[in-house]
Amino acid sequence: MKGILLAGGSGSRLHPMTLAASKQLLPVYDKPMVYYPLSTLMLAGIRDIMLISTPEDLPQFKRLLGDGSRFGVKFDYAVQPTPDGIAQAFLIGSDWLDGEACALALGDNLIHADNLSTLLRNAASRPAGATVFAYQVRDPERYGVVAFDADGKAVEVVEKPAAPTSNWAITGLYFYDQQVSDIARSIKPSPRGELEITDLNRVYLEMGTLNVEKLSRGCAWLDAGTPDSLLQAATFVQTIQSRTGMLVGCPEEVAFRMGFIDADLLRRHATQLGKTELGRVLMELAEGEQS
Ligand code: G1P
Repeated sequence: MKGILLAGGSGSRLHPMTLAASKQLLPVYDKPMVYYPLSTLMLAGIRDIMLISTPEDLPQFKRLLGDGSRFGVKFDYAVQPTPDGIAQAFLIGSDWLDGEACALALGDNLIHADNLSTLLRNAASRPAGATVFAYQVRDPERYGVVAFDADGKAVEVVEKPAAPTSNWAITGLYFYDQQVSDIARSIKPSPRGELEITDLNRVYLEMGTLNVEKLSRGCAWLDAGTPDSLLQAATFVQTIQSRTGMLVGCPEEVAFRMGFIDADLLRRHATQLGKTELGRVLMELAEGEQS
C-alpha cells in the first residue's frame, strides 16, 4: 500500500500566519505539523509516500523531508496547482499509484490513540473497499459527517451539513483499495467547485464497501486549521510529552520502532537535533534507555 500526504490549500483560516508559510509547516508544539500525519502513515507500515502541495510551498517540504531516507521511507512530490479538492489527490497521484491501494492523510490532522497501530494495520490490510475513521465532535458541521442506522451501520455521508444528523465527523485519514483513482475520476466538482473526499466516500458507501471505524473516547483527533485548534493541538502534544516522556507524532521515533531505520541512524538524527528535548529523547531511545 502507498500513502499520500496532502498538504495543499491556502490556510486562509490561519492568515496572516500562512501568508508566507505553508499551514502544514507551522509548528505544533515542537514539530512541524506535517510530522504528525506522516507518523500516522508510517505507523500503518507505509513506506512509499507522495507529498502533494502548492507550487509555492512544495520546495519547503522537499527541504524538510528530502528523499525520505532520514525516516527509512521513500518520498515523491507532486504539485496541486489550484485547491480543487481533496479527492483530486488521486488524479494527481494516479500514475504514481499505478493501480495500488492507497492511504490518504491530510497534512493538518493529528490522531493520537492507544491502539492506533492496530487500527491502522487492520485498515491497511483490508483487501477491498475503503476504511474511514469517525470521531464524535461538538461541531460536526465543520466536517464530513457520517450517520448510522439503529444497527450501527453507516447509512449517509455528508460534507459540512448545515443541519448534521449525527455528531460523528470523518477524520482526515482514509484507506482505499485499487479502484480509488478510477472512482475519483468519476466524481464531479461540488457546488463550491471542489472534488470532495466525501463524494468519493459516498461511492464506496453506495457500493456497500465503506468500512467506518469509530474512534473511541480514549482517542484524540485534532485538526490544526484555526488559531484555536492549532493552539489546542500544541498544548495537547506538550501535555502528553511532558507528562509521560513519550513522543507524539515523531517520524524518527516511529521509523526506529517500526524497524525502518537502525539505532546508528537514529543516534545521528538525535545528535543533529542538538540540545533539544526531542534530541535527548531520541538519543535515549537509540541507546536503548527507553522502552
Ligand atoms: C476536510 C474534509 C472533511 C473532513 C476534514 C477532516 O475538510 O472535506 O470531510 O472531515 O477535512 O479534517 P476541510 O479541512 O478541508 O474543511
